[in-house]
Amino acid sequence: MHKIIIEGGNKLSGEVKISGSKNAAVALVPAAVLCDEEVTIANVPNISDIDALDEILSHLGATVSRDCDVIKIDASKIENKLIPEKISKKLRASYYFMGALLSRFKKVEMYFPGGCSIGARPINLHLKGFEALGAKVKEKDNMFVITADKLKGAKINLDFASVGATINLMLAAVKAEGTTIISNAAKEPHIVNVATFLNNMGAKISGAGTSEIKIVGVKHLRACFHEVVPDYIETGTYMILASAMAKNMIIKNVIPDHVEALISKLDEMGVPMEIGVDYIKISSPDKLNCTNIKTQVYPGFPTDLQQPMATLLNQAHGKSVIEETIWENRFLNLFELNKMGATTELLTTEKAIIFGPCKLHGKVVNATDLRAGASLVIAGLIADGKTIIKNADYILRGYENIIEKLSRVGAKISLEEIE
Ligand code: EPU
Repeated sequence: MHKIIIEGGNKLSGEVKISGSKNAAVALVPAAVLCDEEVTIANVPNISDIDALDEILSHLGATVSRDCDVIKIDASKIENKLIPEKISKKLRASYYFMGALLSRFKKVEMYFPGGCSIGARPINLHLKGFEALGAKVKEKDNMFVITADKLKGAKINLDFASVGATINLMLAAVKAEGTTIISNAAKEPHIVNVATFLNNMGAKISGAGTSEIKIVGVKHLRACFHEVVPDYIETGTYMILASAMAKNMIIKNVIPDHVEALISKLDEMGVPMEIGVDYIKISSPDKLNCTNIKTQVYPGFPTDLQQPMATLLNQAHGKSVIEETIWENRFLNLFELNKMGATTELLTTEKAIIFGPCKLHGKVVNATDLRAGASLVIAGLIADGKTIIKNADYILRGYENIIEKLSRVGAKISLEEIE
């Protein structure tokens, strides 16, 4: 267990380099078990979610080596063993082993995955898709047994453009007999990155990044080299932070197109930005304007930036409204922000009002999930005095070297282990 300690109130400046995308990397690593040759993935973020996936791969008998941001995975000799619940519960993305192991062995037994408590997080769309491909799903005591004599291409329409279901179904369909069409597919940049990885291995996937993905099944996948796309949620988090507290902060190694929805909102709020080909330079303005945000699937405003944005809206003049349409339980950070002096009001589980600007003061607060934690880090940097963020392990799940990156731009921030 860790806590983060921040002495807030000073402006930040300098450069922050964005790491590889968490939500891409956590799918690419399980996808490697589809290949019975060694694959190399670069720009993998050093976060605890990747450590948990590494643990699962090792449990299955894969050979894994990690050197800085490069991971080499040889899954040629893996066994289709049950992943212990205590490991699969560590993260949501353990569910990608369902699609990958089903594809490889035509059978998989897995416990319900873990992840941040931000809603019920059912996996019915994944299971319905596996069934459409010819699998049988049995559920017993929090465990799923999924079997298939063979997997056959099918037309699958997702009721909701789920990121997890889209990726899991690409993994399951990649070696299925015939053609699979996933319609109403998710379009997030990590979907494209996973499809590119599979294509680098010899898969035949087209349409990733649009709402219809076509997968023509192949018999064999081969060794390849692949690079994780820059993390647009990490990018957005540092952009939000810079909008509140920075002078000429340069956020580099970014794909500005991926944060278009955020750029548009920060523009409305009066944040001066210089958008380069692969960097964004931001200074906080003298006065921030209020605005409203509604979370949507990509390319709409990302739910994963909603909580960090709530902290920024606290600094804006006037009343802002946040509508969360993806998750049912993603406003717990507001209670912690209120302890620090923010004025926020939860109207329903999907809608909150933020009144600003508010002076924030350092307090002991609790990170209830990953992005709530990011929201509190930003609040701690803005606040006067000392902020202590308990349950900081949530933050370490998704932000590589956050302490080092922020220290380098002038933040007084440290991480301490607690009993
Ligand atoms: N949903 C269903 N049934 C399903 C799947 C999803 O009803 O079978 C619902 C969910 O309950 C939710 C909505 O559909 O209301 C969206 O779920 P989605 O499947 O898109 O989310 P996910 O794959 O579980 C990923 C990210 C989340 C991110 C969402 C939305 C990973 C490991 N997680 O979750 O990331 O919020 O997509 O973009 O990729 C985070 O990084 O902090 C995080 C929570």
